[in-house]
Amino acid sequence: MSEERLRIRKVSREKARKRPRDESKLGFGQFFSDHMFLLDYSTEKGWHRPRIEPYHTFSLSPAAMVLHYGQEVFEGLKAYRGENGAIYLFRARDNLARFNRSSKRLCVPEIGVDRVYDGLKKLIALDQKWVPRSPGTSLYIRPTVIATDPFLGVRASSTYLFYIITGPVGAYYPEGFNPVSIYVTDKYVRAVRGGIGEAKTSGNYAASLMGQVEAKSLGYTQVLWLDGIERKWIEEVGTMNIFFLVDDEVITPPLTGSILPGITRDSVLRICRTWGMKVSEKPISIDELIAGIQAGRVKEVFGTGTAAVISPVGIIHSKGKNHQVADGKTGKLSQKLFDYLTGIQVGRVKDPFGWMDRVI
Ligand code: COI
Repeated sequence: MSEERLRIRKVSREKARKRPRDESKLGFGQFFSDHMFLLDYSTEKGWHRPRIEPYHTFSLSPAAMVLHYGQEVFEGLKAYRGENGAIYLFRARDNLARFNRSSKRLCVPEIGVDRVYDGLKKLIALDQKWVPRSPGTSLYIRPTVIATDPFLGVRASSTYLFYIITGPVGAYYPEGFNPVSIYVTDKYVRAVRGGIGEAKTSGNYAASLMGQVEAKSLGYTQVLWLDGIERKWIEEVGTMNIFFLVDDEVITPPLTGSILPGITRDSVLRICRTWGMKVSEKPISIDELIAGIQAGRVKEVFGTGTAAVISPVGIIHSKGKNHQVADGKTGKLSQKLFDYLTGIQVGRVKDPFGWMDRVI
């Protein structure tokens, strides 16, 4: 990528977007800040024309390859308003590194992490008033790349558009931090080993919709995904990684190709290890889980992800039956992890890992 200067075009006062007043009603993913960061790619020029512009709609050829073959990669990360009023990014470089790993899987050219990181910091600084202040809120950041060649043959595109949009968010689930109920599907799968499950790309989320619709229609918040081959091994929950506390062991399925390598997953593993807990990345089957719940050995189940951070699971529905995890309430470990991680993110708790980086 050439070292072109970042161009910044600010929104005019008249065109500035309306900021939501009531931060208790932010929900997730419905408000967008004033500006966006963009980069173009062509085979001749590589990544070029870095710019920050007012948030705007695109005009794309109806034949643009992303619209037909899903050659797209995205990320989700957050900036937090610290208790001191400053703004911090959480493990942003790790998200950008994962973006490049996903891009590789989707045959999208990699982007220099430093350059994007620098652009992201400038974008957040420019839109700093969009970083909310209420407890439990943050600025969600969505880097995305799309294939733009107007061409209907199936191959990797030769042109791309990379952009970052941001927006203030609150809780991902309407339940907030309260336990969710999940539905185990053996009818649909999210991903298979060798496929694109470990990349953060739209196709995985498209594959998840039918299961989610079915779970919702039956009164459950999310789906528990099993492996695509034996439909036996637990992989993920909804859009999150999944953890179990069985006796005194923290267990999460290993990253064998069909599971997204979550940044929050990695954070939880590292935190639990520093707390001296027994931590295992090992396969766990749905039958083992249900038997463990019935025997009272499964103390907690929770999902981890950027959007919800920690999401306790209270009920698991499998093969026509609801199984309550322990007392069905938020477990002690889930609560402790949530308090600790969100404490680090807003600077209330010391960050021994070097995960936070001050933006402004
Ligand atoms: C997350 O848990 O952070 C996600 O991946 C959800 C996002 C796709 C909205």
